Amino acid sequence: MPIRKIDYNNVHGKYVLLRDDLNVQIENGKIVDAFRIDASLPTIKHLMSGGARIVICAHLGRPKGKRDEAFSLRPIAEYMNVPFIDDCLKKDFLASMKNGDVVLMENLRFYNGEEENDDSFAKKLAEGFDIYVNDAFAVSHRAAASLVGITKYLPSFAGDLLINEIKNISEVLEKPEHPLIAFVGGAKVSSKIGVLKKLVTIADKVIVGGAMGTTFNFAFGAPVGNSLYEPEMAKTAIEIMDIAKQNGCEVLLPLDKGVGKVFDKNAKRTNRDLMDVKDDDVIIDDGEKTIERNHEILADAKTVIWNGTFGMAEWGAVWGRASFALARDLAHLTKMGKIKSVVGGGETVAALDAIGVHQDMTYVSTGGGAFLEFIEGKELPGIKALDK
Ligand code: 3PG
Repeated sequence: MPIRKIDYNNVHGKYVLLRDDLNVQIENGKIVDAFRIDASLPTIKHLMSGGARIVICAHLGRPKGKRDEAFSLRPIAEYMNVPFIDDCLKKDFLASMKNGDVVLMENLRFYNGEEENDDSFAKKLAEGFDIYVNDAFAVSHRAAASLVGITKYLPSFAGDLLINEIKNISEVLEKPEHPLIAFVGGAKVSSKIGVLKKLVTIADKVIVGGAMGTTFNFAFGAPVGNSLYEPEMAKTAIEIMDIAKQNGCEVLLPLDKGVGKVFDKNAKRTNRDLMDVKDDDVIIDDGEKTIERNHEILADAKTVIWNGTFGMAEWGAVWGRASFALARDLAHLTKMGKIKSVVGGGETVAALDAIGVHQDMTYVSTGGGAFLEFIEGKELPGIKALDK
């Protein structure tokens, strides 16, 4: 796609409106995970070295068009150690900015115009700037004013992170070294139909796990006890298996399950063969045979894509066993130079972080929904808007 990357030799003295995705979890005013913020830093640093006057705009959460301190970006400005402007349409501070200065403005979503891609909001946002840079891959699947409308009013370019995301994800989709193996977990088949349908046309094997795996198992007659699954998706699961078959892709489902009697972090873990799941069992993770099968499958893999955890990895070691085992294998094989690993999705990245292997992957995307839509082959509005 012919999008133009920002030329850092051409920003000296210019006012640059930089759209970042700084949508991170904040608890009690503290940033829980700074991955997205840190991933935004290279573009900011390059703009600073180029002598630009950098004004960052971003969103946090879903405040639905109203000012709400719970969704303020102030803690992020503190983390980044930059001045904070408490209204994204306030522009009087611009006059006092010097070359190389960086400020962060308050949440764009305090205005309805942002999510509605309102033209007058986009115009006001653009006032006072010379250049617009989109470095917010993770929100580029939203047709928002700061991503789409804004490009009508300013010369618009992509930043380093956006370019890197497109390059790294496109590479594994378009020219992967085979065998390409995709691991897809998470709660709902319904949220990943498009991704699964796409992956079964390009991958050699797709491994479906977690609660999604339970829905697939159910579709083929396995008992699921008292577990989270989507009975209404059974037909879709079978349809996906059919598409896979037509494309020579093998879909592998969980062989056994880690179950408890309650859906609780402290539940006692028992392993059950697929057909032995009892009526009062709650499936919380993939089981031991499945973990071993996943490990064996990786022996001849060359490229691996992973999105979605298999169990409640956020509950720690007991219920994150299947996810952590895969994360460890991917880290080891990537470090050995045996595979290229591309991982995306908030909970999946959190699982990497939980056991300290984030840095060992070939590429970790900052995108959640955007990562999935990009894989699916959808045109992301924020990227399309730069294509002119
Ligand atoms: C994300 O966290 O995936 C992006 O920042 C988009 O957020 P949204 O789903 O609230 O639009």
